[in-house]
Amino acid sequence: MCGIVGYVGFRKSPELLIEGLRRLEYRGYDSAGIAVQNGNGGEINIRKKAGRVDELANLVQNDPVDGTIGIGHTRWATHGETTDVNSHPHIGGNGEVVIVHNGVIENYASLRTKLQEQGFVFHTTTDTEVVAHLIAHHLAEQIKLGGDPASVDTCIAAIEISLKRLKGTYGIVALFRDVPDLVVAARLGSPLVIGVGDREHYVASDASPLVGYVDEVVYLSDHELATLTADEIHLKHLETGQLSPSIQTLDQVSNDVELGDYEHYMLKEIYEQPQTIENAMRGRLNADEATAVFGGLNLDAPQLRRIDRVVLTACGTSWHAGLVGEYMLEEFARLPTEVEYASELRYRNPPLSDRTMIFAITQSGETADTLAAMRECKRKGLPTLAICNVVGSTIAREADGGIYLHAGSEIGVASTKAFTSQVTVLAQLALFMGRMRHLSYPAGSRIIEHLKAMPEKAEQTLKCDELVHDIAKKYHGFDNFLYMGRLYNFPVALEGALKLKEISYIHAEGYPAAEMKHGPIALVDEQTPSVFIVPRGSIYPKVMSNLEEVKARKGPIIAIACEGDEKIADIADDVIYVPDVEEYLQPIVTSIPLQLLSYHIACMRGCNVDRPRNLAKSVTVE
Ligand code: G6P
Repeated sequence: MCGIVGYVGFRKSPELLIEGLRRLEYRGYDSAGIAVQNGNGGEINIRKKAGRVDELANLVQNDPVDGTIGIGHTRWATHGETTDVNSHPHIGGNGEVVIVHNGVIENYASLRTKLQEQGFVFHTTTDTEVVAHLIAHHLAEQIKLGGDPASVDTCIAAIEISLKRLKGTYGIVALFRDVPDLVVAARLGSPLVIGVGDREHYVASDASPLVGYVDEVVYLSDHELATLTADEIHLKHLETGQLSPSIQTLDQVSNDVELGDYEHYMLKEIYEQPQTIENAMRGRLNADEATAVFGGLNLDAPQLRRIDRVVLTACGTSWHAGLVGEYMLEEFARLPTEVEYASELRYRNPPLSDRTMIFAITQSGETADTLAAMRECKRKGLPTLAICNVVGSTIAREADGGIYLHAGSEIGVASTKAFTSQVTVLAQLALFMGRMRHLSYPAGSRIIEHLKAMPEKAEQTLKCDELVHDIAKKYHGFDNFLYMGRLYNFPVALEGALKLKEISYIHAEGYPAAEMKHGPIALVDEQTPSVFIVPRGSIYPKVMSNLEEVKARKGPIIAIACEGDEKIADIADDVIYVPDVEEYLQPIVTSIPLQLLSYHIACMRGCNVDRPRNLAKSVTVE
């Protein structure tokens, strides 16, 4: 949450920072700001504003700043309202230091009181201003002890002492008035990546602002501090000392972050699914052995064979994909599987034997709760793996091994293509673990054939878009929706309801259809549409009975059904047909119309589809 970008080099930094913030805006978009330093005089000029990056860009256009060094921030408010003054960057002391910050400082209130006693005046209600003043305070202390205010060492000493006094999480980037040509970055819990260029260096919350500018990056780990000038990088581990930077190749392609002809990233990402599903399987299906192959699990066959229980942990949409994975792993590998909210698992103390394998499922690889749950399991000595999209993200780096989604950047806050990729990867994992256990060769071969057909099935599914648009026209004025499905489509009901809530702000609830009679049926009336996910399958007739029960109470019904199912058209008010696929792969085809339904409804209600209110793509605070 919150996006940070910093630059030191030869380019005009205001344009660069604003462009970087646009690419990071999906992380938070309550307010935005930049601080630009002029390498000659050291003067730091700040422009900041509540609202979107576009508003900051207008402000800078009307009131320009100049310099080749700078830091920028796009905010998702944690402490303090979204006002101009609470926007980052924040000034420490009398402008000796200026910082941007991502994370939460838990002991900010006590530090603030102490700093006030020492004469510091606070202009904001943020936790970040406390950090800025704290650094200014320690800078003054260092100078009193004989430190040269214009020396890098003095600044680093001040920042190091300050960081030791903080409790909580941070990604911090700072400029120092008296040392132009210096950007300092430090990380504990909130990601930062450094872009390594020729006579220039960048720092950002993730690699997206670096794409097109540098080919090499250095990922900061927790407790690391980076000192950047145009020509040099110095890394230091705050507990163990100096480090040499481990430079990696940035392998994102720039058109990933471009919108192309689409009106919104969400729509673009929905339409990318045939390709991203294909990418999630590329090189992983071994028809000769009727199994899947993963290069990065880092566990050998005997270790994998020992596993007798799987725990999948995640948040949001990734948690829903985990539920589909649970059904698959239990059906095909006969492995007892549980799906845990990461936010619960991190503080719970469930019995976990050394035969339990943990998978953290995460698109971003940065979700704070998922990371903490993974670390807690790792600390207990369990094999801890990740199913992750963002290469080089914290979870990807800290996991013992894992499987990448290869879905490309997902920018829309509401996750779409990551979900279908996660389901595709989990199906392959179930095949792989199954083939090490009870699954026969012919059964494995059949799964491979089914999987191979999925990109084409997703392509066919997308043809429903126009019809879904018309259905959205009919229903976009309703304020409550129910989503119901069973077995593999129960998680899809949850995911469909989540999509609608996230981007259209309509109240929606997902339920296993049979649970309807235990409560939700009380909500059914002419004003509450029910979306039934009822493709053909083992319990089709049972879901049809639930549908009839809603119909009997005059509830409008939208059904997601298999092509050729004419019976359903007699009962449901509207039917969206999807290709007939195996039950365990139905979530891939049934989730797509639900993504489109929420997309069109949100557009018709005038909502900001890619940047819904109060949400952020990467929840990097607890
Ligand atoms: C946020 C996003 C969701 C996402 C969830 C988990 O809430 O808005 O779209 O599903 O975080 O994120 P992750 O990156 O861990 O999958």
